[in-house]
Amino acid sequence: MEKLVSKIKRLKRERNIVILAHNYQPPEIQDIADFVGDSLDLSRKATKVSSKYIVFCGVNFMAESAQILNPDKVVLHPSLDARCPMADMVNIKELERLQDENPDALTVAYINTTAETKAMADICCTSANAVHVIKKLDAKKIIFVPDRNLGSYVKRFVVDKEIMIWPGYCHTHENISKDDILRLKSKYPNAEIMVHPECRPDVIDIADFVFSTNGMVKHVRESKAKEFIVGTEKGLCYRLRKENPDKRFYEIDKAVCPDMKKITLEKILASMENLEPRVELSSNVMEMAKKPLDKMLEI
Ligand code: 13P
Ligand code: SF4
Repeated sequence: MEKLVSKIKRLKRERNIVILAHNYQPPEIQDIADFVGDSLDLSRKATKVSSKYIVFCGVNFMAESAQILNPDKVVLHPSLDARCPMADMVNIKELERLQDENPDALTVAYINTTAETKAMADICCTSANAVHVIKKLDAKKIIFVPDRNLGSYVKRFVVDKEIMIWPGYCHTHENISKDDILRLKSKYPNAEIMVHPECRPDVIDIADFVFSTNGMVKHVRESKAKEFIVGTEKGLCYRLRKENPDKRFYEIDKAVCPDMKKITLEKILASMENLEPRVELSSNVMEMAKKPLDKMLEI
């Protein structure tokens, strides 16, 4: 592993390549990345890098978003089969039909969508800003794709709009049950419960805090609490432990996103040596998908 890491570091310098990694990536990948963050943070970072090449360690929609926001850069995705299953739950024809039937509605696409879905949206959002983005919109009617759990979480705060929610979900978060959390809470009664808004409503109901992954990182940094139950993909706990060695984190064992783990150091090195696989999107889709992403970043 040491050899691999030093080769990656050398190539990073020689070819001026920036490595961006999501908070769920395996420890060895977080350690070699230039930036680790949530979807919103990584989208912002992607617009600020000056190097020609970005290696994106995450699932497809994240790498695509980096490419869409930087049409002049080359975005390498070391494992093109690392896809978010929830992003693939939107059927374009069905969405088109829903939009035709509701001409007065604005379409909000969670960033966990394919570029083709984003191209049909008015604005994007992430788990960090969904409530804020939807509150800001003028329309009284919203089509929200694809996460039913994030959609119903937003509904708790936005009561003056009709929000039509697509029935998509994330397997990893859907599988976290209220009992999983309560079992940990009875073992560690002083622990604060933090959960991701992709969790089911009954899990949200018993949480002390609902945050995006970066929201959790920030909260832990600022909180006086010493113990935390982490209701999201357990890869985040590596970063939490690294940054807060004096605090304890209780993860949900089964909360693993298999697609996030498809990226490996070997694949990263290969992508840096060969300068592929690259994110490939048609210029038309890129142009159309950029508008809702830019709108989100403006807000
Ligand atoms: P964050 O934007 O909160 O990191 O979430 C991304 C994601 O895929 C959650 O499952
Ligand atoms: Fe998609 Fe869920 Fe994996 Fe996040 S954890 S990338 S929402 S499948």
